[in-house]
Amino acid sequence: MDSIDKSKLPTHVAIIMDGNGRWAKRRGLPRVRGHQQGAETVREVVRTTRQIGIPWLTLYAFSMENWKRSDLEVRALMNLLEQFLKDELEEMTENGIRLKAIGRLEKLPTSTRKLLFETMDKTSQGEDMTLTLALSYGGRQEILDAVRKIAVSVEKKKIQPKEIDHRLLVNALYQPEMPDPDLLIRTSGEYRISNFLLWQIAYTEIYITSTLWPDFTREEYLKAIAEFQNRERRFGAAD
Ligand code: IPE
Ligand code: IPE
Ligand code: MG
Repeated sequence: MDSIDKSKLPTHVAIIMDGNGRWAKRRGLPRVRGHQQGAETVREVVRTTRQIGIPWLTLYAFSMENWKRSDLEVRALMNLLEQFLKDELEEMTENGIRLKAIGRLEKLPTSTRKLLFETMDKTSQGEDMTLTLALSYGGRQEILDAVRKIAVSVEKKKIQPKEIDHRLLVNALYQPEMPDPDLLIRTSGEYRISNFLLWQIAYTEIYITSTLWPDFTREEYLKAIAEFQNRERRFGAAD
């Protein structure tokens, strides 16, 4: 904690939580065991984020492309999500954490979706931190959905094409009030974005670690934040 400068905290940290399957494989365990262990890391990271005082945390929990995985794995991930929502409700409400979700949520199984919306409702008064779960999420799909919404407004003559600007597009995204991430962390050593927050990460600082998600510790999380604080962000400007 001492290595963190409280005056230079990121406002929004986004994480691509990758490597659960490899963690399990290395131990000769089924992939689902890796996801179980990964869920423990999620709890720890949420707690640490709240303790540090970072107001926005977004976790990539299930991508649009992850629907291609086996029924068994998808079902296990949905069950783990439901378990997480039940287990963490109390801690979220006690700690001022508001839960949000982005993605094509209509594709989620009914029981998962119902619990998700109930939990978002019950935590909606949380003012200290917003935890956003990206579920059935794709950055390209988010932009496509936004373009469709705008096209409908144009068709209904509510707006004219020349009025389409940055603000209007952001307002059509899944969560317009969410600030762009300052720091994007990806575990398990892959150097790619995998269709996460494509619009929002235009000027995000990226931190990639080879650590697999179930092994990602509080110490390493703090290290990533400390490294972020040493980066020079220019946003395209010259000195
Ligand atoms: C990340 O771990 C969790 C999800 C994508 C849901 P993976 O399941 O992708 O693990 P690897 O990449 O196969 O190791
Ligand atoms: C990205 O990980 C999606 C999530 C972490 C939910 P993947 O494992 O699905 O991505 P790829 O296939 O390595 O690009
Ligand atoms: Mg993966």
